[in-house]
Amino acid sequence: MATKHTRTLVTAALPYANGKIHLGHLAGAYLPADIYVRYLRSMKRDVVFICGSDEHGVPITITAEQEKITPQAVVDRYHAMNRSAFEKFGMSFDNYSRTSLPLHHETAREFFLRLLGNGVLTEKTESQFYDEQAGMFLPDRYVEGTCPVCKNPDARGDQCEKCGTFLNPTELIDPKSRISGKKPSVRETKHWYFPLGRYQARLEEYIRDASGRDGWKQNVLQYCQGWFREGLQDRAVTRDLDWGVRIPLPGFEKKVLYVWFDAVLGYISGTKEWAAATGDPQKWKRYWTDPSTKYVAFIGKDNVVCHCIVFPARLVAW
Ligand code: MF3
Ligand code: ZN
Repeated sequence: MATKHTRTLVTAALPYANGKIHLGHLAGAYLPADIYVRYLRSMKRDVVFICGSDEHGVPITITAEQEKITPQAVVDRYHAMNRSAFEKFGMSFDNYSRTSLPLHHETAREFFLRLLGNGVLTEKTESQFYDEQAGMFLPDRYVEGTCPVCKNPDARGDQCEKCGTFLNPTELIDPKSRISGKKPSVRETKHWYFPLGRYQARLEEYIRDASGRDGWKQNVLQYCQGWFREGLQDRAVTRDLDWGVRIPLPGFEKKVLYVWFDAVLGYISGTKEWAAATGDPQKWKRYWTDPSTKYVAFIGKDNVVCHCIVFPARLVAW
């Protein structure tokens, strides 16, 4: 296919630094990305290939608590392991970065503050489970219970893996804290929300437009249509946790950005880190802000909503 693009940015989903990558990962998002990048390089095209470790989120703090070590020690271990596994497998990333880097935290904070400054984000108070014994809120997977839809007894606070339903933790039947095993109480807490619904028409147009959906699989398109039919909802972009990207706002000292909010921005901070290493720190902008750049994201099947709906909307709002 003839192309008008002068350069290509390729990213591969950032694996969690909470376990070892395995062949399934390699065959899914990484090997195809590597083949594509090597092809572009062989054609002498301008391409940059970015990946790295996703180092925030509740599963990592749960591992840390179980092993009685810090979350930083967990991610240091798995980042090193996964990085070397990718290297031995011959993956040719231009940069394999990580989201615990100060550069990433600054990038994510700046992005959040810009959306706040543009008046895009809205603040809301919601009810959340709270563990009285541990003295902490229980976001996402910190709560388990029975799925209200399929009655799976092992559903997590954010999703039932059995029937795939996305849940609000307070919808779980017979909820239990993963920390104390006790039934949590409910307290009110403030969070910032991204108004995804406001971008629905724009996203539908983007996905209808061939340049928007170039290379997307049928099942991915259908999945997005399903989300559109349901109507896109506001999504909280902050969490009551202390592991993650901190937000410099009064009243938010004990909150961090939601892991999926910061993780995709790892593609940007990873490109910045690469640009600085080549001696031209501003070069990342060409890959992220110049319309003549083609962006191709290789992802796993659990990453569709984040990459095909939420991230494009955030880039429009940026
Ligand atoms: N860590 C996630 C997973 O393994 C993927 C994150 S992709 C990102 O499913 F873009 F958000 F970083
Ligand atoms: Zn279920």
